[in-house]
Amino acid sequence: MANVIKVTHEEDFHKVAAHIVASLVQTSPRAVLGLATGGTPVGLYRELIQIHKQGLVSFAKVKSYNLDEYAGLPTEHPASYRTFMNEHLFNHIDINLENTHVPDGQATDLDAECRLYDEMLSEAVIDLQVLGIGHNGHIGFNEPADSLNPATHVVTLLEQTREANSRYFGSVDDVPAQAITMGVGSIMKARQILLLVRGADKAEIIHRAVTGPITTQCPASLLQLHSNVTVLLDAEAGRLFQ
Ligand code: F6R
Repeated sequence: MANVIKVTHEEDFHKVAAHIVASLVQTSPRAVLGLATGGTPVGLYRELIQIHKQGLVSFAKVKSYNLDEYAGLPTEHPASYRTFMNEHLFNHIDINLENTHVPDGQATDLDAECRLYDEMLSEAVIDLQVLGIGHNGHIGFNEPADSLNPATHVVTLLEQTREANSRYFGSVDDVPAQAITMGVGSIMKARQILLLVRGADKAEIIHRAVTGPITTQCPASLLQLHSNVTVLLDAEAGRLFQ
């Protein structure tokens, strides 16, 4: 059963998340972080930058692995996840960019890139995996399906996901059709998982993921099988939790 924390005051949400990540790095300076993009962790990254600028935490020895990247999108595209991570976190802390990993969505052979990413992951145990959740229960870009791929793989994004992410592009047609994502096997291997969920529109799916049946039709529900998951909810996302 996950440790569910409901944060009453919106402004505390990012601080609590940042405290969890920063405490780990303070006690384990060589920590390996699994990182997510999207709207939800932006505040966490902002707080981490602040804590770093206060001289309270160094990321100099940290390694990071991102969950996913769009296929075919140039790395320097404003909506690529590499750009997102550089702009929202990496460029503002002392992490060595060589120690940050985002799948290469521009690789000519995407399947080979997936295998390469898995080889890197097999050499590094993720100490803390930060996750968000999609409205359909996806984690990373592991979309609901009859079966889930445990390894890093190329995925065809569902229309719903492309719609949700069209806010970062000119229109939904500009959102790439495919992406590379870490598989649920790699996510489940992380020592600790921090699932961040904000907003009324996520209340039902997070309640289903945490309390409903474990099913590949709601990939986040697989996290019920992990022994060290913290689900951090803001008041609206936590509406259905007592
Ligand atoms: C992002 C990712 C996705 C997002 C999810 C929620 O790297 O893997 O699973 O976490 O789509 O996105 P937001 O936070 O934008 O609602």
